[in-house]
Amino acid sequence: MAAQTPASLTLDPCLDAYRSAIASQLSLSLDIPLDAAYEGVDYGKKGIDFTVAVPRFRLKEKPAVLADKVVSEFSPNAYLQSATRDGIFVHYVCHTQNLIRTALKQIYTLSKSTQSHPHGSYGCNNSGAGKQVIIEFSSPNIAKPFHAGHLRSTIIGTFLANLFEANGWKSIRFNYLGDWGKQYGLLAVGFQRYGSEESLAKNPILHLFEVYVRVNQDLEKEEASNPGKFSPTNEEAKALFKKMEDNDKETLELWKRFRDLSIVEYEKVYKRLNVRFDVYGGESLVKSQLMMDTLEKLRNNGLLTKKTAHESRVGAAAAEATSGDQDANDDDNAADALALDLTQWKLGKPVVQKGDGTTIYILRDIAGARQRYQLYNFDKMIYVIGDQQDLHVNQFFKALSLMGEPFTDKLEHVTFGKIHGMSTRRGQVKFLSDILEASKEAMLEQMKKNEEKMKDVTDPDSTSDEVGMTCVKIQDMSAKRVHAYTFDLQRMTSFEGDTGAYLQYAHVRLCSVERKVALDGVIPRDDPDLIDTTLLTEPKVRELVFALASYPDVVKVALKNYEPSTVVSYCFKISHLVSSAWETLIVRGQEAELAQARLYVFRCTRFVLSSAMRLLSLTPLTRM
Ligand code: ARG
Repeated sequence: MAAQTPASLTLDPCLDAYRSAIASQLSLSLDIPLDAAYEGVDYGKKGIDFTVAVPRFRLKEKPAVLADKVVSEFSPNAYLQSATRDGIFVHYVCHTQNLIRTALKQIYTLSKSTQSHPHGSYGCNNSGAGKQVIIEFSSPNIAKPFHAGHLRSTIIGTFLANLFEANGWKSIRFNYLGDWGKQYGLLAVGFQRYGSEESLAKNPILHLFEVYVRVNQDLEKEEASNPGKFSPTNEEAKALFKKMEDNDKETLELWKRFRDLSIVEYEKVYKRLNVRFDVYGGESLVKSQLMMDTLEKLRNNGLLTKKTAHESRVGAAAAEATSGDQDANDDDNAADALALDLTQWKLGKPVVQKGDGTTIYILRDIAGARQRYQLYNFDKMIYVIGDQQDLHVNQFFKALSLMGEPFTDKLEHVTFGKIHGMSTRRGQVKFLSDILEASKEAMLEQMKKNEEKMKDVTDPDSTSDEVGMTCVKIQDMSAKRVHAYTFDLQRMTSFEGDTGAYLQYAHVRLCSVERKVALDGVIPRDDPDLIDTTLLTEPKVRELVFALASYPDVVKVALKNYEPSTVVSYCFKISHLVSSAWETLIVRGQEAELAQARLYVFRCTRFVLSSAMRLLSLTPLTRM
């Protein structure tokens, strides 16, 4: 067996070799194919490396009898140390010394190699090689607040893009801005009345928001003083939006400026969050030609129907409730609105085009998906959108499939629950930067409470900013996506419990042990073959190393469930293991070989923790 020689440095997880060793014995004893046996090897519970549940092979003989046979025929080798029976289960323990040596060597060497990833290749695999995924996320609406749904979409979407890349895919990060619809006609009217070029240049997001609020106040006043009647501002907005849809040059130029300046501003905050985009798309960029063609196709498939004025009003109210207020007040021209009839599939009758011929959110989504397929020929496209729009997404996915589009099986919706109470001391959050400032502030307060930790902090400003963002992200990704949660600045910035602050601290501590021993003149050896891993006899090391060796599987599992919490839990598992190892695995003052060996474990732990944190879009800190 090859375990005497170093693990080969492919991206294949080194634990695969141990699984194969189990499978080959299992396949002989049970007379089953090797791959079936391999599939049956699961991780074991604490203290056991792998477990096989015999009934899963559905063999004729009694599982307990077969389990006995497997155990009595077991022979230890370079990979496996023992097999024991527990009812219908067989538990395996890997050869401890070889496991520690091969796993650490693979972790060390791949972490330092940039062949598959700029920050180290350990944990990466090539399963997605040659494939391309579009991940649409964040997608805020210009001139409107960046709400909790956008925040979650940004955090989860970035994680997914990183995750696909770690699995060998090429990912295209796509921001689908809300930048079209009658409300942008209204914004343009507002700008004519209240806009200032100077303020626009200074802070476009804030200024456009203020303009939008003011023009909406005009609208409300008119409607209040003249209920149900003609409102001049509304008519102006409709006319302007119609001009935009009809490609009027001047209005389009103004609109493009709003959009471009907003993007520049968004990018600053995204950058702070470690988030980037390859493409800034937007509703406005969906080609009108393609929308007309889409309507035609829907009609030919018998999916379109006229809506009565009443139906349209109800439909528009529903659209407002589900589609992130995209097409609010869409009951204008209700009488001749065109709707998509999905009642047969219990998906309602969403309006796709208004009576004056202008388009609606859902039509832009149907046509937009087609446009992206034409442009990118993606292998997969993922929409990261909150559960308030579940119905909307189901509707447009259904429409595409009824139209017979060839890519509908490549579409996926990654949904998530709401954040409750996202407000700061200054009130309800309106901009992304407010959230980041508030978490930074809360973090700084926590840090001040902890004098011990605070005294080593060299740059409290940038540290509290980074740790604060880590806290926001970790709180968001700790539970399963579908769960709603309550935004709690106090709790999430605490150093107690599984928070972002705790995680950063665990990483910092791994960095500081290296700095401290360097003061004693211990310089880590860079060649794994020069480390005597047989000195690593503590059960803690074994437990920790086995957990580190399972990281490549964590990356694969997360790609199946799209759950950031899989990776978050893994980070905390490693942090807890290492925090309980500090007392037994002392490096300082130890004899040279032992110090080197222990230092090597901590360095490998740091590499893995840092990769997992980066996967979550965090920036691991070296000091705090
Ligand atoms: N801009 C939308 C909103 O804020 C989100 C866009 C979601 N993506 C989509 N393809 N519809 O509600």
